[in-house]
Amino acid sequence: MSEAANRTLLRNANIVLPTEIRQGSVLIEKGIILEVDAGSTVQADEVIDCTGLHLMPGVIDDQVHFREPGLTHKEDLESASRACAAGGVTGFLEMPNTKPPAITMEGIQAKEEIAAKKSCVNYGFYIGATPENAPELAKATNVPGIKIFIGSSTGNLLVDEQAALERIFAETTLPICAHCEDETTVRQNAERLAGTTDIADHSRIRDERAAMIATKRATDLAKRHKHRFHVLHVSTAAELEFLAEPSPYLTSEICLHHIFFNVEDYPRLGSRIQMNPSIKTKADNEGLWKALLDGTIQVIATDHAPHTLEEKSLPYPQSPSGLPAVENSLALMLNRAVTGECTLPQIASWMSDAPARIWGIIGKGRIENGYDADLVLVDLEKQKTIYDEEQHTKSRWSPWHGETLTGWPVCTLVGGKEVWSSERGFDDQFRGSKLRFDHQRGGFWATPDGIGTAD
Ligand code: DOR
Repeated sequence: MSEAANRTLLRNANIVLPTEIRQGSVLIEKGIILEVDAGSTVQADEVIDCTGLHLMPGVIDDQVHFREPGLTHKEDLESASRACAAGGVTGFLEMPNTKPPAITMEGIQAKEEIAAKKSCVNYGFYIGATPENAPELAKATNVPGIKIFIGSSTGNLLVDEQAALERIFAETTLPICAHCEDETTVRQNAERLAGTTDIADHSRIRDERAAMIATKRATDLAKRHKHRFHVLHVSTAAELEFLAEPSPYLTSEICLHHIFFNVEDYPRLGSRIQMNPSIKTKADNEGLWKALLDGTIQVIATDHAPHTLEEKSLPYPQSPSGLPAVENSLALMLNRAVTGECTLPQIASWMSDAPARIWGIIGKGRIENGYDADLVLVDLEKQKTIYDEEQHTKSRWSPWHGETLTGWPVCTLVGGKEVWSSERGFDDQFRGSKLRFDHQRGGFWATPDGIGTAD
């Protein structure tokens, strides 16, 4: 697609709207969706024939770890954003556990400057909580929200003292999200299993109880303080108990590995599926999937957390936790749509619309007049096998190596510009923009039917 195109017509697509799929043509002008129902003969500088393809809103992944600054031997904002574009992800919200961690607005701005130079998709960066930085968190603006590690993971960010948590919930206004694993329980389990080299013990150390205690604690804090709170990567069906009742303050998400993998996969995949929170049981996979379908959980993210294969091959527990996923997440879900397990509008809700609404991202997440043309064309007939060596992530591997999926993104547009296509590759010059947030217009809450809005 040429740089100069003012008006682009995506002709004859199957357009994935919030509640239906409609055949038609979408007219884009200056990066904005001008007309969802444009005629197929409307004048445009450029016409893209979408016959046989589905047009979806670009994925917004609200939980990724892209490693820059400081850990760029694993990933950086260029390699990660290219992986995003090739996976149909047009925007990401990145976590603060870089080196140094992003715990001040200066730290956030430093990341934004790197992203402006290196990221081919749109970006936003969470500010990380520490036991002492509530005043800094209270001042923060133009970020998606505050990230708390209630249980420790990669890096040294941890806030598990009740007084510090109460202070953060009481003294800040930005939405909060948290990694919920109870540090005391994890440490006790680790002591009990000290000396183990069995990777399966990872799920015994970071067990269901650890997840439940922390999720209960965090959701209690949110309700008491009436503070918007998003539970990251729910890993157990047991935690659903704290999310089932609709609340104006609570939303939650699952990550793909928690519905695709379980402890029976350790013999086959070893540390490739070593994650925090740990992967759990088959019953948890099924319970979490059901919770997505019934609206108890609203968002799918990846927790893309690359480590090199060399690091991953260290014996447990020296092997680090985390796996890359951003370039396969949409395809994994499209494959589920192809097999009839869910619909494309549901996927668009879980992966685009709900994250945009929860984090108050302006102009994103839907195919609707006036929205930004961050879009992905997908081919539901395309079959492709995932191979480590073909991954765009700098870590060059995937826990889904060897799996063949049907349904793949074939072209990704950011602000109406093609940044990647399976035929033409990447536009090496294009750079994405900083996402804009409007938390006043938030007011989203979980209902049995999905997400409600204040309007
Ligand atoms: O397994 C994990 N690894 N979980 C996280 O939440 C963080 C991540 C990382 O940054 O490596």
